Amino acid sequence: MIIASPRDFRGVAQQRLPRFLFDYVDGGALDEVTLKANEIDLSKILLRQRVLHAMDTVDLSTTLLGENFALPIILGPVGLSGMLARRGEVQAAQAAAKARIPYTLSTVSVCPLAEVAAASSQPIWFQLYVLKDRGFMADALARAAALGVTTLVFTVDMPTPGSRYRDPHSGMSGPWAGTRRMVQAMLHPCWALDVGLLGRPHDLGNISAYRGQATGLADYIGWLGANFDPSIGWQDLDWIRQAWQGQILIKGILDPDDARDAVTFGADGIIVSNHGGRQLDGTMSTAAALPGIVEAVGKSIPVLADSGIRSGVDVLRFLAMGADAVMLGRAYAYALAAGGEAGVSRLLALFEKEMRTNMTLMGVKKLADLGPHCLVRSSLKE
Ligand code: GLV
Repeated sequence: MIIASPRDFRGVAQQRLPRFLFDYVDGGALDEVTLKANEIDLSKILLRQRVLHAMDTVDLSTTLLGENFALPIILGPVGLSGMLARRGEVQAAQAAAKARIPYTLSTVSVCPLAEVAAASSQPIWFQLYVLKDRGFMADALARAAALGVTTLVFTVDMPTPGSRYRDPHSGMSGPWAGTRRMVQAMLHPCWALDVGLLGRPHDLGNISAYRGQATGLADYIGWLGANFDPSIGWQDLDWIRQAWQGQILIKGILDPDDARDAVTFGADGIIVSNHGGRQLDGTMSTAAALPGIVEAVGKSIPVLADSGIRSGVDVLRFLAMGADAVMLGRAYAYALAAGGEAGVSRLLALFEKEMRTNMTLMGVKKLADLGPHCLVRSSLKE
């Protein structure tokens, strides 16, 4: 299959992965209305074409949280990425380091933090959920600090896991799930050899490191379900501030009031997100939510955005709406499944090329010059 566009990786990933893994990445909560709205609403944000702006150079570099990065893009936390490619989290982190952008390791990664941090030539970011097991959280934060993690991405939109109707259909859960996954693996021999066999051990590395015993994939849903804590409020987060000296980004903000609360809490930044449509189905897209949140927080802290980004053009749309940077999830997960580290590097190169070309056509030389004035106003939701 030819890879010409960032969207081409999805088809390759679908061919290569056993169904339970492709559907885990590709799917969303309930009827997947919000999942679809993320992409559709974003595509309706129209960029202004400007001509004869003496466009000799375009600079895509940015400073975020005091650090310089080559692109305003972060590889976001994707659970189980180590099942998409052999030791997938390590490969994704290496692609990010080569592209000089941050990589965020999920709590529910296959590779433990220590393995990924050791393989990456730059500090990585670490994502943590709000969990009942405070011992786990404290342990994870201490490990992260010891391993040089600079930034904690604290996910707050998962007080309870969203139901994903694809899971029982795909064999991720439901009757005979183990057998069905085995059959799917046999039908995908390249994946079975490369990841299924040579990518072992397949466990939740961070959780196994804490429990001192292997925590298998079959325990994934169980462990998560048992550990999410809907009873936690902002007031319970103070101890995180004591336990973590680095930067904290609050991920999963979709409402201006919550954005203001995050600023009051002392977050170093927020990530406007509906978890890629994997949590509250029926809520608004990130593209619809972002302008109100940018207005609410002003320039007080960086505002990042994710959900629905499939191209370099989408990155420009979010930046023009006021985001300081964006996080990728599915877009790079497909590329990782399709081609490992090289796939992610190629995806990032395609994003960069789209951004460079389109900024030239928009008459914008650097990211700081992007703003609502670069958008066709009537395309923004009021
Ligand atoms: C985990 O955060 C997921 O969305 O599956």
